[in-house]
Amino acid sequence: MVEVSARLRELVAAGRDVAVLTGAGMSAESGVPTFRGQGGFWENESFEDLATPQGFARDPDKVWRWYDARRRGVAACAPNAGHRALAEYQMHHPGMKVITQNIDGLHQAAGSRNVVELHGALFRVRCTRDGMARDDRRVPLPDIPPRCACGALLRPDIVWFGEALPQAAVEAAFGAARRAALFLVIGTSAVVYPAAGLPAIASGAGAWVVEINPERTAISDQADEVLRGPAAVVLPALLGAVPAATR
Ligand code: OAD
Repeated sequence: MVEVSARLRELVAAGRDVAVLTGAGMSAESGVPTFRGQGGFWENESFEDLATPQGFARDPDKVWRWYDARRRGVAACAPNAGHRALAEYQMHHPGMKVITQNIDGLHQAAGSRNVVELHGALFRVRCTRDGMARDDRRVPLPDIPPRCACGALLRPDIVWFGEALPQAAVEAAFGAARRAALFLVIGTSAVVYPAAGLPAIASGAGAWVVEINPERTAISDQADEVLRGPAAVVLPALLGAVPAATR
């Protein structure tokens, strides 16, 4: 059982101005590894080599081999009950905003719409010459490193350390945080900015901020309410309990 406050129950039932920020923990139960902590990507891999423009300039083959392996890994994963609960809730409350740091596309695969992708997308490539991005779902990629039709190298359309986030996504995310009455922070360690700043923006603008995470994080103390548990368990329990009248 997930214990929730009366306030949270009311906000969920009302469904007005609900926004969620998700991180790697959202997809943990789909089988996608997280970044930090035991078994996380950055425990065994050097993010400087794999997730910076400098690492890519030094060794595009190595970077693409890693992303090709991640693409293969994620292609074998499916949305979990948490992704599905968010998508279903959004069907009944279309104004709900899903903001994610994840690049795995699992919110969209579950049926969520207008997902704000702050850190890019694993199945999108971008030309290093003209910056044009396009979807590419081929798994595995036929050539490593892949090249654009123009001959230039392609890169993953992912935000690397030291790079700016896509402006439109940042504006959408901050706008949603400022408007939110209820702001759920799900499965993120909340240490990578600017995403980690969104709960404080939402809180400052009057939102009820709820963390959903089995572990304590950098924003646990800022949250109005904390639901300690995995997203795939807590979200169906929280959102699936929407009273029939509001569905
Ligand atoms: P992290 O790996 O830093 O944090 C994952 C969080 O998920 C932790 O707080 C875990 O406690 C929590 N968690 C684990 N299992 C969970 C579950 N079943 N349900 C809910 N929560 C669970 O991942 P992020 O916070 O997403 O950036 O990392 C932020 C950014 O750092 C990523 O987007 C990526 C990374 O470097 C880029 O690639 C630009």
